[in-house]
Amino acid sequence: MSKIKYFPEDMDVQNKRIMLRLDLNVPLDKKEIQDKNRIVSSLPFLKDLIKKKAKIIIISHLGRPKGVKNNELSLSPIYKFLKEQLQTNVYFFMGDINEETKNKFSYLKEGEIILIENIRFFKGERENDDNFAKILASLGDIYINDAFSCSHRAQASIHKITKYIKESYAGPLLKKEVKAISSIIQNKKEPVSCIIGGSKVSTKINIITNLIKNVNNIIIVGAMANNFLIFKGFKIGKSLIEKDSKKIIDNIYTEAKRHNCNIFIPEDCSVSIDFKGSGKIKELDSIGKDEIILDIGPKTVKKIENIIDQSSTVLWNGPAGYFENKNFSTGTLAIAKKISESTSRKSLISILGGGDTISAINKSNDKFAFTHLSTAGGAFLEFLEGKDLPGINVLK
Ligand code: 3PG
Repeated sequence: MSKIKYFPEDMDVQNKRIMLRLDLNVPLDKKEIQDKNRIVSSLPFLKDLIKKKAKIIIISHLGRPKGVKNNELSLSPIYKFLKEQLQTNVYFFMGDINEETKNKFSYLKEGEIILIENIRFFKGERENDDNFAKILASLGDIYINDAFSCSHRAQASIHKITKYIKESYAGPLLKKEVKAISSIIQNKKEPVSCIIGGSKVSTKINIITNLIKNVNNIIIVGAMANNFLIFKGFKIGKSLIEKDSKKIIDNIYTEAKRHNCNIFIPEDCSVSIDFKGSGKIKELDSIGKDEIILDIGPKTVKKIENIIDQSSTVLWNGPAGYFENKNFSTGTLAIAKKISESTSRKSLISILGGGDTISAINKSNDKFAFTHLSTAGGAFLEFLEGKDLPGINVLK
């Protein structure tokens, strides 16, 4: 397999325009950043580039605006935070990206930064459009992808841009993720259990079928589990579901049987009639038609703890409930606590992935210990699956 081209630490980048793809997709609530982890981890490399007098142009997305401008998903709160953190001029570019943009960027001096507004406001990004990628590429001399968590997306600022820019590299955060996850995959000890939760069901549900071949147990929690509960014939009120998942789930069970992989789904849950509620523990056959499942229940937590006890490697992606309301963070934090204790006490190998999973544990005051914390969600799962991620493939 060809090797990934990592950005050489000693490269002279003075006066060079660096197109830096970061993942600054952080949770916001009324324009307040709820978890700064992804931004903070990007700062050391940014500071290094500033010191080396590069001209830095940052590209990132926020949420999934599908090619349309949406004020709620503006990167402006992130821009303000970067400005506070960095001792240089940081500009925010909210204009169009077209043939004129290059001239508009000519004011950028050595050691300064332009942050481009949410790249997913532009249609060409999602469509991985050649023309859009070409224009993006013309804004820089060197492209660096330091967004491992977006590298499973064949989108212009991750994929096609590399076709039109002279040099492309993987940045230090991407390198750290790839090295850590690869080494864990190579050294993983059985039994391997994978916990999958969160609300990005469409991103992850197909991945499960492939993971089955590599792990002994799959535990489904979070909104993902709702589809499995429906499949099993439970009524789940107003809980979030993914349309047309029946066939995929059917296939998941068939493949699991074939590969001797156990699938676990929740046995009880905590519900409320709205996201701000306080939570009521319910058996699966007594969920009211106005209720929403927002966390796993105590029986499920016990079951998961037992599986973790019997595992030598645990891979976890996606929270077990709507952790943004602390009444529904119980399941997620119980899982985090158990994995963390087992990692420190009996050398369980553990990797946690996903912006939301990390946000959930960062919200708690407890200190946790894991073998590796990945900033990536979907990308982490696809990488585990053994897929050649489009954003990484182009850096080889
Ligand atoms: C993530 O949060 O996992 C990354 O930022 C990718 O986001 P996406 O799933 O919307 O592409």
